[in-house]
Amino acid sequence: MTPINIVFIISTLIFGITNATNHLCASVCVCEEDTHSVKLDCSRVYLSIVPPMEHWPWNITHMDLSFNNITALDYELSHNTIEVLDLSHNRIKYLAQNAFGGLGHLKYLNLAGNDIQQFDENGFFGLEHLKSLNVSSNGLSFLPDRLFYFFIGLQELSLADNPLVHVDPIHFNRMINLRWLDMSSIGVYSLQPNIFHPAGQLEFLDLSSNDFHEVPTDALRSAKMLNHLRLSENPLDVLDKKAFRKLSTLEVLELNSMDFLKTVEEGTFSDLTSLRVLEMNYNRFLSSIHPLAFHGLFNQSRPTLQELDLEGNFLNFLDQFMVPCAKMRKFNVQRNPWYCDCNLRWIKECDIQKVYAADLKCHLPRKLTDALIVDLNESDFECPQYGDTQQAESAHHHEVVVRSMSIGLAAGLLVIIAFGIAVIFKWKAVKTWYRRERRGPGAVYYVKARANPREI
Ligand SMILES: *[C@@H]1O[C@H](CO)[C@@H](O)[C@H](O)[C@H]1NC(C)=O
Ligand SMILES: *[C@@H]1O[C@H](CO)[C@@H](O)[C@H](O)[C@H]1NC(C)=O
Ligand SMILES: *[C@@H]1O[C@H](CO)[C@@H](O)[C@H](O)[C@H]1NC(C)=O
Ligand SMILES: *[C@@H]1O[C@H](CO)[C@@H](O)[C@H](O)[C@H]1NC(C)=O
Ligand SMILES: *[C@@H]1O[C@H](CO)[C@@H](O)[C@H](O)[C@H]1NC(C)=O
Repeated sequence: MTPINIVFIISTLIFGITNATNHLCASVCVCEEDTHSVKLDCSRVYLSIVPPMEHWPWNITHMDLSFNNITALDYELSHNTIEVLDLSHNRIKYLAQNAFGGLGHLKYLNLAGNDIQQFDENGFFGLEHLKSLNVSSNGLSFLPDRLFYFFIGLQELSLADNPLVHVDPIHFNRMINLRWLDMSSIGVYSLQPNIFHPAGQLEFLDLSSNDFHEVPTDALRSAKMLNHLRLSENPLDVLDKKAFRKLSTLEVLELNSMDFLKTVEEGTFSDLTSLRVLEMNYNRFLSSIHPLAFHGLFNQSRPTLQELDLEGNFLNFLDQFMVPCAKMRKFNVQRNPWYCDCNLRWIKECDIQKVYAADLKCHLPRKLTDALIVDLNESDFECPQYGDTQQAESAHHHEVVVRSMSIGLAAGLLVIIAFGIAVIFKWKAVKTWYRRERRGPGAVYYVKARANPREI
C-alpha cells in the first residue's frame, strides 16, 4: 500500500463522515476556490500515483500535480470540468491507451520533464479543445504521424529538449491556430521548406540549441506571420544576405552564444524590414560585421531597429554608418575588444546609457587598454599623424614589403658579384675543370667540385 493510499484512507475516515471538505484539500493539496474556478495545488507532496478521480472536487478546473513521483498514468483520466492539468516534473514513463480520453474540456496539458519515450498514435485522443501542450524534456525520439491530428485549436506547443532530430511537416498540417512553438534542443539540422505553411498564425518560434549550419530560410518564410525567432546556439559560421531573405514580418531576432559564428556579411539584415530588436550576444568569435550588414534597413518612412545588443562578441571595430546609434532606444556593445582609435571616435556621439557603459572599454591601443569609453574624450581616439589606421597599416605593410624586397635584391646582387669575382680569379681553374669534365670523370666529381670549389 502506497503512502498516498494510506493518506486517502485516513482522510476519508476523518472527513468522509461530515463531507464538509474535499479529501484532497483536507489532506495533501492546497485548494483555492473563487466564483469561476476550483484550483488544486498538489505539487511537491511526494505523490506516487494520480489521486483517484473520485477524490477530485466535482467542479475542479485546475489540477497541479507537478514535482511529484508519479511513474505512470495507468487508467483513462476522465473528468468534465478540468481545464488545466500539470503533470510536469514527475517520472511518468508509462501511459495507458487513451490516458487523456475523458478530459474533453482540457485546455492546457503539461507533461514536461518526465520519462516518456514514445506516444501511442492515439495518445492524445479526445483532447479536442487543447490549446497548450508541453512535452518538453522527455525522451521522445519519434512522433507518430497522427499524434497531433486532433489539435486544430492548439495555440502553444513545446517539443523542446527531446532527441527528435527530424520533424515531419505532417505534424503541423492541421495546426492552423498555432502561435507559439518551441523546438529548441531537439537535435534538428534541417526543416522542410513548407513545414509551417498550414500554421499561418505562428508568431513565435524557438530553434535554439540545435544543429543548424545554415539558417532554414525557406522553412521560416513559410511561417507568414513569424514575429519572434530564436536561433541562438546553433553552429552557424557565417550570416549573409540569403540568411533572412524576405522575412519581412520578423520583429525580434535572437542570435546569441554561437561559438562558430565569425562574420556577418553585407546585406544580412537588409530584408528584415520590421526588425525592432536584434540580440547578438556572446558570440565569442564574431569578429566582423560588414558596414553594410543593415544596408537599406533604416528608412524614415517606417519604424526600424530600436534595440541592438552586441555584448560579449569579439569585435574591435564597427562602422560609424552601420546603424544610427544615437537614435536607438538601446545600443549595447559592451565587452568587446574595441580598438579605440579615430575610427571609433563616433561612439562618443551615441549617448550610451549608463547600464550599457559600465563594461564598455577599450582593448587597444595599449595606452587605452581597459579605459572606460565614457571616461574618454573624443580627442583620446587618435590615429597616427599621417592618416587613419588603415592607411597607416597599409603604409607599414608597404614599407615592410619594400624593405624585404630591397634586402633580397641586395643579397642577390652580392651573390652575383661574388660569383663574378670568383670566376675572374679562378678562370684558369675553371678552364681546366671544363676540359676534364669533357673527358668525363663523372657526375660525382662534378658535385664534389661544386660543393667545394677550393679543391679545384
Ligand atoms: C464548486 O462546488 C462547491 C460545492 O461542492 C461549491 O461550493 C462551489 O461554489 C463550486 N464552485 C464553482 C466555481 O462552481
Ligand atoms: C520516488 O520513487 C522512487 C521509486 O519509485 C523511490 O526510490 C524514491 O525514493 C521516491 N522519491 C520520493 C521523493 O518519494
Ligand atoms: C514547458 O515546460 C518547461 C519545463 O517546466 C517550461 O520551462 C516551459 O516554459 C514550458 N513551456 C510552455 C509553453 O508552457
Ligand atoms: C523607404 O521605404 C519605402 C517603402 O518601404 C520605399 O518605397 C522607399 O524607396 C524607401 N526609401 C529609401 C530611401 O530606401
Ligand atoms: C577631457 O577634456 C576636458 C576639457 O575639454 C578635460 O577637462 C578633461 O580632463 C578631459 N578628460 C580626459 C579623460 O582626458
